[in-house]
Parts: sequence; C-alpha cells; structure tokens
Amino acid sequence: MLPFDRVTDFSKLRRLTPYRPAFGWHRGKCIDRYYVEKFLQENRDAIRGSVLEVCNNEYTKRFGGKQFAKSDVLDLNENNPARTITADLSHCDAIGDTTFDCIICTQTLLLIYNFTAAVHELYRILRPGGVVLVTIPGISQICPTNMIGAGADYWRFTRHSARRMFAERFGSENTQVVTYGNVLAAVAFLHGLVVPELTAEELDYHDPDYELTVAVRARKSVTVANE
Ligand SMILES: C[S@@+](CC[C@H](N)C(=O)[O-])C[C@H]1O[C@@H](n2cnc3c(N)ncnc32)[C@H](O)[C@@H]1O
Repeated sequence: MLPFDRVTDFSKLRRLTPYRPAFGWHRGKCIDRYYVEKFLQENRDAIRGSVLEVCNNEYTKRFGGKQFAKSDVLDLNENNPARTITADLSHCDAIGDTTFDCIICTQTLLLIYNFTAAVHELYRILRPGGVVLVTIPGISQICPTNMIGAGADYWRFTRHSARRMFAERFGSENTQVVTYGNVLAAVAFLHGLVVPELTAEELDYHDPDYELTVAVRARKSVTVANE
C-alpha cells in the first residue's frame, strides 16, 4: 500500500532534464548569484585599498564603492581581456607577498584542483590585516565547460570543509563561514529557475542542511607578518 502522503504533483518540474539548462543564466539572475551578491553586500567594508578579483572587477567596482584605490584582475585564462595578471592562483609566484588589502574570489576554488595551495597563495599575497572574500558552491549542477574559462569543475564544498581549509591557514579566530540557501532555492537553482521566480522570503530562508552557497571571510592576522 502506498503511504498516504506520497507526493505526485511536481507539475512542470516532473521531468528528467532541467527546466532550463546552464543555471537559467539566459533568463535572468541566477539564484547562486543572489547569494554571492548578498554576501559581498554584507562584507563590503572589507573591499578597500588594493583589491584583487578573479576574472573581472565587476564586484570590486560595485561593492567597493569609493573605498578601493587600485583594482587588479587575475585569470589563468589568457583569452580574458579583462585580466591584469595572468597567473594560476594555486601557484602564483609572480605576485609578491603582501600585495593586496582585499581579494574577491567568487565561484573559483571549485575550478582549481589543488584548492589548498590556492588558499595558501591567497594568504601569502594578502597584506597583514587584509581580507579574502570567497564564495563556493555547495549544491549545483556541473558548470558547462563554455562557462568556465580555465580549469575544470572539480569540487563542491560544505561549511565544514570551507572552515577547515581556511582556518588551517588563517587561524580559526580569523575565519568566518556562512551558508545560504534552502531546499526550495536548491531545487529551483538545479532546474535553472532564476531570482525573479522566487520571492525574497523564499530566497532568504536559511536552512543549514541545504548549503547552496558557502561563503568565507578570512582575515590575515596583523601579528603574523611575512612567512
Ligand atoms: C566562474 S569564474 C568566477 C569569477 C567571477 N568573478 C565570478 O564571480 O563569476 C572562474 C574564473 O576562474 C578562472 N580560473 C580557473 N582556474 C584558475 C586558476 N587555477 N587560477 C586562476 N584563475 C583560474 C577561470 O578562467 C575564470 O575566469
């Protein structure tokens, strides 16, 4: 006998392929971007001085306001005309120690096989007192190759793995981790529904068991100088 609460009505989402492919990016703002931008808005105080961002400097300009003095863009992808520094974030010897006050590293560590080395480099190139703002996916479809640039879609993270990988380098007292999302936002995101298709209440509801986006704010201690 079937259980009385058997769910049968998935409506348009009862399908084996996503309602829209590729995060639905062609229909509006992707749901993970809502959380990335919410995190940056909540941490915009850190975007100041000399700022490094990966791929482009859209978030530096948008959230840094008048606080940032210098903007650099790092990419391993030599076809990216926006880059000012061509380097592998997991091995970027060409960038000197203690160069940046802030690094915005959104949706990138999933593409770097040796993400631990990248965290060490982020630490090394930050000035004492500098902050790295990181977002990484917890729940997501695989990134289509044509949306990636360099690297490949290697990893998903949780708040626990994010905390350990940053706390091991920056110290637990300097590492803050938050997550965003809930089951409705996750299902919608996997089907390529976009931000206007959910309400703000639905997007903002936080369920720690459904980590759509994991975000890290890590500060390099002022008491630990060059290493
Ligand atoms: C999906 S974009 C994310 C950054 C972008 N600002 C954003 O928020 O969407 C990922 C970028 O990381 C770059 N990338 C991938 N692996 C890299 C590596 N090992 N070192 C530096 N950049 C890398 C890709 O070429 C791409 O430009």
